Amino acid sequence: MSSEAAATAAIPSAPFDMPRPPGLSWYVQAHHHVGYEVNITRNLLSPSNPTLARACGGDGRPGTRCLVVVDSTVDGLYGARLRDYFAAKGIEPHWLTVPGDEDSKDLDHVVRVTEAMTDMGILRRTEKVVAVGGGVLLDVVGMAASLYRRGVPYIRVPTTLLGQVDAGVGVKTGVNQDRHKNRLGTYFAPQTALIDTAFLRTIDPRHVANGLAEIIKMALVKDAVLFGLLERTAAGLTPDVLADCAPAVGEMISRAIAGMLDELEPNLWESVLERSVDYGHTFSPSLELRADPPLLHGEAVAVDMAVCLALAHNRGLLTRADADRGLALLRATGLPVTDPVFTADLLESALRDAVKHRDGLQRVPLTDAIGSVVFVNDITRDELGRALSYVHSYAERAAAPGAAALSTLSGAP
Ligand SMILES: NC(=O)c1ccc[n+]([C@@H]2O[C@H](COP(=O)([O-])OP(=O)(O)OC[C@H]3O[C@@H](n4cnc5c(N)ncnc54)[C@H](O)[C@@H]3O)[C@@H](O)[C@H]2O)c1
Repeated sequence: MSSEAAATAAIPSAPFDMPRPPGLSWYVQAHHHVGYEVNITRNLLSPSNPTLARACGGDGRPGTRCLVVVDSTVDGLYGARLRDYFAAKGIEPHWLTVPGDEDSKDLDHVVRVTEAMTDMGILRRTEKVVAVGGGVLLDVVGMAASLYRRGVPYIRVPTTLLGQVDAGVGVKTGVNQDRHKNRLGTYFAPQTALIDTAFLRTIDPRHVANGLAEIIKMALVKDAVLFGLLERTAAGLTPDVLADCAPAVGEMISRAIAGMLDELEPNLWESVLERSVDYGHTFSPSLELRADPPLLHGEAVAVDMAVCLALAHNRGLLTRADADRGLALLRATGLPVTDPVFTADLLESALRDAVKHRDGLQRVPLTDAIGSVVFVNDITRDELGRALSYVHSYAERAAAPGAAALSTLSGAP
């Protein structure tokens, strides 16, 4: 018998309904079903909307409890309406507020959330944790929910644009450790993610552009129609416009979420490391750590995407017109395309880090047309330098007096 055949023979694989034979070696396998809903809704906090109460298992059932964990800024803005909503629905909320800034995204805050679960005496399967806030709050609460008794059900209510199209709709949770972003984390799906753009009325305008960066990413890698829609609307997107959710805004958010879910669903646990949603996320983690003044996540992603557009053009993958359309769209939303610390040296060291994260290969997603992506493994330092020069020269031309056409989406159809 060959050694391979002997190894196979040592792993008895009895059918599931047969008793496992006694022996010295067994093989265990199980399939973990994951299913969760993402729902766009209007007036989530209106007592006439039963969506949140139903997600909590309430809406008329007496004695329903839940643990509401809210970003402290969001609590100041929406806490009273949230409390009124639960009162109207006869649901007893236990309440915890947690700061929603990146500095609070750590294991200590995860532990605080688990302590609130203990204080409440949360029932392990029927009582829900409701996370209300931006991406930071959702990541912290999701991680706490995944760890507490090895998993309790939770509901996500994202209140930032980035949360609504990205952090709130996938299955990743996590916190920072030392100076490493999201170094500790889990994959743990919520039961439901409830998206209501009305929360966006109060976000800082800088956070509009921050979220738009992730929407532009989805457009560049898989949705040319979304790209066109963004070219026509992005420059006028304010918190009020997003909150009012006119049809074009609704379509933009819906397309961004659908595209994201299409990419995530077949690869929820990231067994395949060629991920188009990693577009703009090769060089940006290193930039995000070093930028001074600091950049938001989406801003760092925008600077990364700018260099990726140039890399794709310089390789002959993308026409100059399309590369410049991408750069013009980034600028039109107020996103940066360059940063002083984003040098060829930084790009090279960021790429080395990405290779470790991507198990030994670059696997850099680049656009070979607007709405389409390929992966490359052979980017050189020289190419990085030339791509940076392209972006810098674009930015200089676009900022020059009389160059308005460049930055006002001249390529828009
Ligand atoms: N898990 C994932 O798949 C995933 C994906 C992308 C990003 N992320 C994470 O998301 C985080 C960024 O999320 P973010 O951009 O939402 O930032 P954030 O959570 O820090 O929120 C930004 C700021 O807006 C405030 N805020 C939230 N909602 C508000 C509202 N409706 N009105 C007024 N202020 C409000 C917050 O208090 C905070 O000060 C990062 O830590 C990133 O790593 C996670």
